[in-house]
Amino acid sequence: MSSIIIDVNQLTKKFKEFSAVDHVSFQVNSGEIFAFLGPNGAGKTTTIKMLTTLLLPTSGTISLNWFNPVTQQDQARASFGIVFQDPSLDDELTAYENMEFHGVLYHVPQSLRKQRIEELLNIVDLWERKDQLIKTFSGGMKRRLEIARGLVHHPKIFFLDEPTIGLDPQTRNQMWDYVAKLNQKENITVFFTTHYMEEAERIAQRLAIIDHGKIIAHGSVEDLKNLTQTSTLEAAFLKLTGKAIREEEANPSEQMRLHRQMWRGRK
Ligand SMILES: Nc1ncnc2c1ncn2[C@@H]1O[C@H](COP(=O)(O)OP(=O)(O)OP(=O)(O)O)[C@@H](O)[C@H]1O
Ligand SMILES: [Mg+2]
Repeated sequence: MSSIIIDVNQLTKKFKEFSAVDHVSFQVNSGEIFAFLGPNGAGKTTTIKMLTTLLLPTSGTISLNWFNPVTQQDQARASFGIVFQDPSLDDELTAYENMEFHGVLYHVPQSLRKQRIEELLNIVDLWERKDQLIKTFSGGMKRRLEIARGLVHHPKIFFLDEPTIGLDPQTRNQMWDYVAKLNQKENITVFFTTHYMEEAERIAQRLAIIDHGKIIAHGSVEDLKNLTQTSTLEAAFLKLTGKAIREEEANPSEQMRLHRQMWRGRK
């Protein structure tokens, strides 16, 4: 029997008059790997921020591991780990120190922390590098470490917002193998976004597609192919949204845009 671990109903986020997330509803089952897909600016990150207590909804309800992220922040936070769209490791610390810091933050008892950090660094093949500073790590190594770090407190749900952006295909594949392994080994529910359709097709058991803040399709990969009479998820996505998903590769990221704006402002 599957039970619902993420239950979202009529979730809405308005920035002034603009609805970034517009009456979104979906459910994720416990132990499932769920993809949340959509073009740039569709509302994916805004939704994840509301699910993970970083942003207050304008309206609608969320149940996360049976907690309400608005009124039960601490319990909700203990229920999930997250890998953000933008890197968030401390460059001046070692891999081990980054893990340790996170464990302390989440009140993982010391003996358990040690064991858990070793276990996770082994899973992502970084145990040998544990004493190296993050600034000496490659992009792929950093991403792997962020994944391991997000799991130190043994969360039930793992959010990954674009975890593979900017990585080469081989590293991307490896990353998903790690995530799949964790899903299997620890029965962690995985909720992820990606711009790579073949990744979603390969790893997701079910998915939702969001466009202009609204869910436009929801189901298994097969459901979506059948619905659109297409043979790949990429083609289904194109048919449903009228857009290719990979604009991100041609366009600068939100962060780069911001940096650029700040730079221009200074001149
Ligand atoms: N703090 C904010 N204030 C105003 N508008 C915002 C804010 N955060 C996000 N938005 C807008 O809400 C919309 C959805 O943004 P969001 O970051 O959720 O998209 P996304 O689906 O994650 O896109 P991407 O694939 O580029 O990461 C965008 O139009 C964005 O500009
Ligand atoms: Mg985003």
